[in-house]
Amino acid sequence: MRAILALVLLCSAFSGEAQAEPSADTVARGKALAEAADCASCHTTDPSKPFAGGKRIGTPLGAIYSPNLTPDRETGLGAWSDDEFHRALRYGVGRDGSRYYPAFPYPNFTKMIRDDLLAIRAYLATLTPVHNSPPPPELRWPLNYRVVMRAWNFLFFQPGIFEPNQQKSTEWNRGGYLVTGAAHCGACHTPKNIFGADRRGRAFGGGLVQGWFAPRLDGAERSGLKSWSVGDIVEYLQSGRNGRSHAGGLMAEVVANSTSKMSDADVRAIAVYLKDLPAGKPDPVVTPPPQAEIAAGKAVYAHACVACHEADGSGTPRIYPPLPGNANLQSVDPSSTLRVILDGAQTITTPRAPNPGSMPAYAKQLSDQQIADVANYMRNSWGNAAPLVTPAQVKMHIGESRDSPMRNCTSEVRVFDVPRNDGHGSLKFPPVPERSPESGTLPLPGHC
Ligand code: HEC
Ligand code: HEC
Ligand code: HEC
Repeated sequence: MRAILALVLLCSAFSGEAQAEPSADTVARGKALAEAADCASCHTTDPSKPFAGGKRIGTPLGAIYSPNLTPDRETGLGAWSDDEFHRALRYGVGRDGSRYYPAFPYPNFTKMIRDDLLAIRAYLATLTPVHNSPPPPELRWPLNYRVVMRAWNFLFFQPGIFEPNQQKSTEWNRGGYLVTGAAHCGACHTPKNIFGADRRGRAFGGGLVQGWFAPRLDGAERSGLKSWSVGDIVEYLQSGRNGRSHAGGLMAEVVANSTSKMSDADVRAIAVYLKDLPAGKPDPVVTPPPQAEIAAGKAVYAHACVACHEADGSGTPRIYPPLPGNANLQSVDPSSTLRVILDGAQTITTPRAPNPGSMPAYAKQLSDQQIADVANYMRNSWGNAAPLVTPAQVKMHIGESRDSPMRNCTSEVRVFDVPRNDGHGSLKFPPVPERSPESGTLPLPGHC
């Protein structure tokens, strides 16, 4: 009896200690999970203060600012209990019982097990505390009333951890846990309804996010991942490019801060899970654009694009992405293609693919009509097929006027390298390469 009592006391003493001082392994696992979940991208404004919050996150209904996750007692998570942290990530419920907006991807984090969530919490507790209170949300009526989120949760939020599928491999289940949970791939790649919730039955069917189109990740023939092998997906997620495409815009940020830092086994598990997604809705049947439209687009292409992308669109894999069979290019929604043509692009560099590259911006050099023409030409040549892009769509994407001084700035990729405890996060931009296209007649972007 006494022995049992001693054992119980001993166990509780150990568990008490474990809570107070998590092991180095737990902290390391928490750091890896925080990277898989890309917490830093949303919760950092000033790179020298990682996780201190205050980043403005635009939504179709206004903006919201991310909170401070450092262990500061007044403005961060310093005074939070483990249970409060768990409740926020698992149920989207704040300390005062109010509900969070889904700009915080708790509808994904709910899939994670308590142990993993608390490992993240343990990692965050090792950061240097920073005193910083983010501004209140600037959301439009009726969302400015947080209480509305109770209804939203009732209608759209399904709490609960990832249910393993016993028919599938351990690798598949690990992939599913990451894709639907921590890595929240569907937050961008699943289309949303007008309330900003995932559209039912359309998982990974492609979604519009901050002016970019996150393409389909299902098995759709032309615009999905049907033609990508597991190896193609792994290479893209680890290095930011493969023989089929490059990660630009928001995806470059995901690769730099998250997927390129994951273990080989985790990235492979993600690829295995994605390759097993159902094909989804078939690609639309497309009537090819009129001959005159194709000829006009071909002329623009021959003038401005051929030097890098080649007449047959083949480019140079991993330097100039090939355009034939390119799924992103054939997406029903041309937003990402138009963003790249309008703003140009800097290829992200990762340890696995350190050579830089860039594409000029064409917003100032080409008219809306010319951009629509060249997009239609690429989307409907070399065996490609995709719906027509109109000059009005191009105009919509231009947003601010062509005269804006920022117009020719390629969007920057924010890369975080978050150290422990030394108080100085460093922002590493990929090196800006010399822009030197082969032909001297090509329009070059201005420098920002
Ligand atoms: C896509 C952007 C995004 C990502 C990724 C993200 N968050 Fe957040 N998070 C937010 C926003 C926005 C809020 C504020 C929501 C609100 O006010 O309703 C928030 C709120 C929170 C809160 C509540 C804090 C408070 O003071 O009430 C916690 C805790 C939190 N996030 C932790 C995390 C952790 C841990 C991760 C990574 C596992 C993470 N977040 C990833 C955007 C994000
Ligand atoms: C913040 C939004 C966001 C998140 C989160 C996100 N993606 Fe993406 N993803 C995009 C965008 C935007 C593109 C298009 C990039 C481009 O135009 O170069 C993209 C492109 C891709 C592509 C290339 C598809 C193609 O046809 O070229 C793959 C594969 C991909 N993402 C996988 C993932 C996986 C796996 C995850 C989760 C680990 C993920 N993404 C998370 C926004 C996101
Ligand atoms: C100086 C060389 C160069 C020129 C000229 C050029 N591009 Fe590109 N293009 C690139 C590079 C490099 C990338 C990859 C960017 C990245 O990594 O995000 C790219 C990417 C693209 C993509 C995205 C492909 C994908 O897989 O996501 C499209 C579409 C595209 N270019 C179209 C054009 C069009 C249209 C023109 C002419 C109006 C053009 N490019 C001119 C170098 C060039």
